[in-house]
Amino acid sequence: MKTKKRPNILLTGTPGVGKTTLGKELAQRTGLCYINIGDLAQEGQLYDGYDEEYQCPILDEDRVVDELDEKMTDGGVIVDYHGCDLFPERWFHIVFVLRTDNSQLFTRLESRGYSVKKLQDNVQCEIFQTIYEEAMEAYKEEIVHQLSSNTPEDLEHNLEQIVQWTEQWIKDHN
Ligand SMILES: Nc1ncnc2c1ncn2[C@@H]1O[C@H](COP(=O)(O)OP(=O)(O)OP(=O)(O)O)[C@@H](O)[C@H]1O
Ligand SMILES: [Mg+2]
Repeated sequence: MKTKKRPNILLTGTPGVGKTTLGKELAQRTGLCYINIGDLAQEGQLYDGYDEEYQCPILDEDRVVDELDEKMTDGGVIVDYHGCDLFPERWFHIVFVLRTDNSQLFTRLESRGYSVKKLQDNVQCEIFQTIYEEAMEAYKEEIVHQLSSNTPEDLEHNLEQIVQWTEQWIKDHN
């Protein structure tokens, strides 16, 4: 039996906007496979050096892409990462950029115990819509969508919309 074609979905946005919360629940509801790039890199030690300023390892983007390429070609994957221009454009059928109000984001990141610099950099990243612009450059504009991610109601609404989109995509492509 030929397996059904399924879409690949990218969830991106500034750290703390709720990508992982949305992605994991979405995987539950759709049966798609959830992949967190941070965890994948950690497990495979897919790093290339260390960033002294941010005190974190630097992602080896080429190895991440190599590691995932076959799986992405098969389809049915939800990718979660706070960046988006490292992935091949052909991987994704739709891209969601989650957006959170500044004060809300500040509170979320503060509760993680982030340093003042990391807090300021991340909130500024959100204010400047850095990831949204990165997504609009890296992918066709018509597949890039912004989602409000401020409240539990937003989360539920986003889940319902994406589940519906996924079901429709599967119908249209099989
Ligand atoms: N829609 C929402 N409404 C209220 N709180 C939310 C919402 N989405 C996520 N949160 C909360 O915000 C915090 C950050 O969420 P999450 O860890 O999913 O963000 P993230 O985008 O994956 O961050 P990172 O890029 O650092 O991994 C969590 O405490 C989560 O419970
Ligand atoms: Mg996360």
